[in-house]
Amino acid sequence: MKRVKLVVANWKMYLSVHEASLLTNRLDKVIKVHRDVEVVLAPNYLCLQPLSVEIDRRKFRLAAQDGFYIDDGAYTGAVSLSQMRDLVHYAIIGHSERRRYFHESFDEVRDKVAAAVRNDITPILCLGETKEERAQKETKQVLHDQIVTALSNLTSEDAENLVLAYEPVWAVGASEPASPDTIAAAVDWIRYQVRELYGQKTEASMRVLYGGSDEPEYVSGIMAIDGVDGLLVGRASLNYESFNDIVTAVHLAALSETND
Ligand code: 13P
Repeated sequence: MKRVKLVVANWKMYLSVHEASLLTNRLDKVIKVHRDVEVVLAPNYLCLQPLSVEIDRRKFRLAAQDGFYIDDGAYTGAVSLSQMRDLVHYAIIGHSERRRYFHESFDEVRDKVAAAVRNDITPILCLGETKEERAQKETKQVLHDQIVTALSNLTSEDAENLVLAYEPVWAVGASEPASPDTIAAAVDWIRYQVRELYGQKTEASMRVLYGGSDEPEYVSGIMAIDGVDGLLVGRASLNYESFNDIVTAVHLAALSETND
């Protein structure tokens, strides 16, 4: 099945509102509209409203980097997925930095996935093992547990639109991405888990991304891996030239698949 490629710029806690607007402007000048690649920008909460007005919607969609699962109420400091429903198409959920620094639990991730779906926002669910878990040969178990808990409130119809991102924690902010063999094995396993839970049709329509030290020179190798539909990019998305090179390389990968 042919799935539209997806490239997500996770700007994390970088960029002021003004800087995000400048970067978006630069990206708009260099990035071309490719029908086979969807480009998504994930700035901090403050930028979502202004960027939603500024972006060319043929080129870019917006994602939240997180979001609270209760729709509204006395939760000082929180921003709910419900409050962002008119601003974003996607929400990154369960990023390893949220799990690590904000102690996000499996249950919270599950509730955030469900809240996103309830509010017509597509979750980009992050999965991945730590260095220690990999050393202990626990990668498969970790991915299994993350998938089964996070998706436990979803029907197969909900799950079809979901995006899963394999982001091994040890490859985030590192000097190079995981090797193609490592990514291939994890993505195969992730797709197998989804098939077990929801069947072939859901798995075939679900997009799986890779994230962790993506740089332009690695893109063609990563996109050639069976079952990988795109990238979740951190640092390289803060530079308009690198990010444009990544989007272009993903487009070329999509083209070569069409010509196969
Ligand atoms: P880097 O691309 O900076 O390694 O970050 C990856 C990431 O965490 C994207 O969500």
